[in-house]
Amino acid sequence: MLRSKKIIRICSIYGSPHKDGSSSRLHDRFLSLCSGFHHERFYICDMKILPCTGCLQCSAGFSCPVSDDMNQLYSAITSADLVSFSFPLYFSSLPGSMKNAVDRCNLLWQRKRLGLYSGDRQQGIFFCTAGSEYHDMFSPSVSVLSHFMNSIGGKLRKDLCLTVPGMDTEAGKKYFETLLLDRVSFLSRIDALQNAFIK
Ligand SMILES: Cc1cc2nc3c(=O)[nH]c(=O)nc-3n(C[C@H](O)[C@H](O)[C@H](O)COP(=O)(O)O)c2cc1C
Repeated sequence: MLRSKKIIRICSIYGSPHKDGSSSRLHDRFLSLCSGFHHERFYICDMKILPCTGCLQCSAGFSCPVSDDMNQLYSAITSADLVSFSFPLYFSSLPGSMKNAVDRCNLLWQRKRLGLYSGDRQQGIFFCTAGSEYHDMFSPSVSVLSHFMNSIGGKLRKDLCLTVPGMDTEAGKKYFETLLLDRVSFLSRIDALQNAFIK
């Protein structure tokens, strides 16, 4: 295991309805090698997260009037150094339940805009699996999560995200199992994230 150069706080957001599905397994493998890091896991499928109503009370600095589990996520995201996501590709993007959580983070963007929160350090990474394989299939997810990370003052590490297409085929499943066993590939991602924090 890699020794931690700094205690890094990770907020891990699992977006699949399958807690032991393929995207969650990639995420778990990554976290299992994050030795010495502090991490909190959030399973969207276990949380009550309602859609944003667009009331824009957050744009005036008020708290969100929607009462659900988002406060747990707001607090974990704002105190994290790293936000890690996993999700299955749904219609070439994030599952709707996870997108609801992203939309509700408009509150964080508004707080940042109003100078009430000065996020400027979070890095983001995602793990995504998909049934088929086609041109540019992960681009919409990269765009959404880059926008999300930028809005909270962070940055999606596109270079470190792990995407696995073709899970509906035997070859894809085999490739996935090989990837899971590729410890070095996960450790090199962790090392790159740690190095960014100590620069
Ligand atoms: C509602 C729904 C939409 C999907 N949309 C896509 C898609 O657009 N492209 C694709 O390649 N796979 C699509 N899939 C397949 C999943 O991305 C794939 O099975 C994934 O590996 C499941 O991951 P999980 O085990 O982590 O839940 C879709 C599956 C579902 C249920």
